[in-house]
Amino acid sequence: MKLLVLLTLSVLVTAKVSYRNYKLYKIIPKDEQALQFLKNLEDSSTELLRYQFWNEVTEVGNEVSLMVAPDTQNLIEAALNESNVAQSVIMNDVQEVIDQENPKWRSGEANPVDWTVYNTLEEINNWLEQMVQEFPNQLEILRPGKTGQGRDIVGVKLDFSPNVRKKTIFVESNIHAREWITSATTTYILDQFFRITDVEQRNIIEAYTWYFFPVMNPDGFVYSHETNRMWRKTRTRYNIFCYGADPNRNWGYQWMNGGASQNPCSDIYAGPEPFSEPSVRVMKEFIETIAEDMVAYLDFHSFSQMLLLPFGHTIDHLNNYDEMKEIGRIAMDELEEVYGTDYVVGNVAETIYIAAGSSMDWVKGEFNTSIAVTYELRDKGSYGFLLPADQILPTAEETLVSVFSILREYRIRHPEDGDESTTSNVNLI
Ligand SMILES: *[C@@H]1O[C@H](CO)[C@@H](O)[C@H](O)[C@H]1NC(C)=O
Ligand SMILES: *[C@@H]1O[C@H](CO)[C@@H](O)[C@H](O)[C@H]1NC(C)=O
Ligand SMILES: [Zn+2]
Repeated sequence: MKLLVLLTLSVLVTAKVSYRNYKLYKIIPKDEQALQFLKNLEDSSTELLRYQFWNEVTEVGNEVSLMVAPDTQNLIEAALNESNVAQSVIMNDVQEVIDQENPKWRSGEANPVDWTVYNTLEEINNWLEQMVQEFPNQLEILRPGKTGQGRDIVGVKLDFSPNVRKKTIFVESNIHAREWITSATTTYILDQFFRITDVEQRNIIEAYTWYFFPVMNPDGFVYSHETNRMWRKTRTRYNIFCYGADPNRNWGYQWMNGGASQNPCSDIYAGPEPFSEPSVRVMKEFIETIAEDMVAYLDFHSFSQMLLLPFGHTIDHLNNYDEMKEIGRIAMDELEEVYGTDYVVGNVAETIYIAAGSSMDWVKGEFNTSIAVTYELRDKGSYGFLLPADQILPTAEETLVSVFSILREYRIRHPEDGDESTTSNVNLI
């Protein structure tokens, strides 16, 4: 009997979560009362309840995406109506959008990394290994440590002239598991670095030592592919029902100082203490070894189309904020020229929400790294995390243009800061 119960439980635990008939509502709080209503709903949100905010409730006038399970829709709609909060349905069946997001992807079937589909962790890691085999003099595989579930965290070091000491740039993506467009974009950028022939761009690429960690939260990422498409956190077990801490609220700078939760069932659970998550601890220790020479920390999230600057706990403009805001604006204008995608630029706390404990804030706070930015990639909410795979290439292309403009504009303003450009003679792809 006991065995049967256990078997049934394990089937329940591993079954793929269905979002059949879940609705996604677009809600724009029109006044303080509506805003307060949404904030209360957000504060009581846990993974056990049958609704999930896809982005944060910020201020009056800012759109919020709220996903609600079928059996909870009446309740929430009625409560919204009662509080005079207007809503519209942008997805009638979230599962249908999930099914169409990545049409060529079949569970268990390998796909090449070619930016027409979203790839699994295994596919991404295999691709990294292949790249290293193809370019053994420029690339080095990095496995700085393991996740809570024992997976390697895999990255690469890229250097077109490894004998010259240079400033370093760190690129991270998919610290939030469900934000699949982010690793698709950073792997594209890495690949392009072996294809681009434009002289100005090659000078920028080759002036730095690059570190790419496309999947910073492998446990959560695998879970988002295999079990629950909407998973955000790590997979540490915190109580009978709730798993995972938010790995982007778990870093030890201003930890828990706003925009994070101490409830293990919350999507923004900061963890029991700073660096409680093994994957976060591994990356902290790795970044410490390269931080001295680091000129840029580029962190990729989705969605909302924003370029965010430190810090998340305060709206004060610290350090080189004004200069970075100016550079960020120029870069986002150039991004917009590619496909018309428009971005907002600003400090995390004033642009979206107070959010303490992020990796970017820790890097900025600990090392005063000159360029520390967080992208929130496409879109603004029509698909949210479920951006169709045919938008990978345009998203990646426009984003790469903006990465070049950030670095170009920074180098114009700081010619003294790390121009070690040397021309390599690597045979590009
Ligand atoms: C809420 O209001 C909308 C229109 O404003 C209506 O279509 C919907 O049926 C209402 N829902 C409930 C549960 O009252
Ligand atoms: C941090 O860097 C900025 C320039 O980016 C500089 O103005 C500031 O003095 C530095 N702060 C510290 C504490 O070193
Ligand atoms: Zn994110």
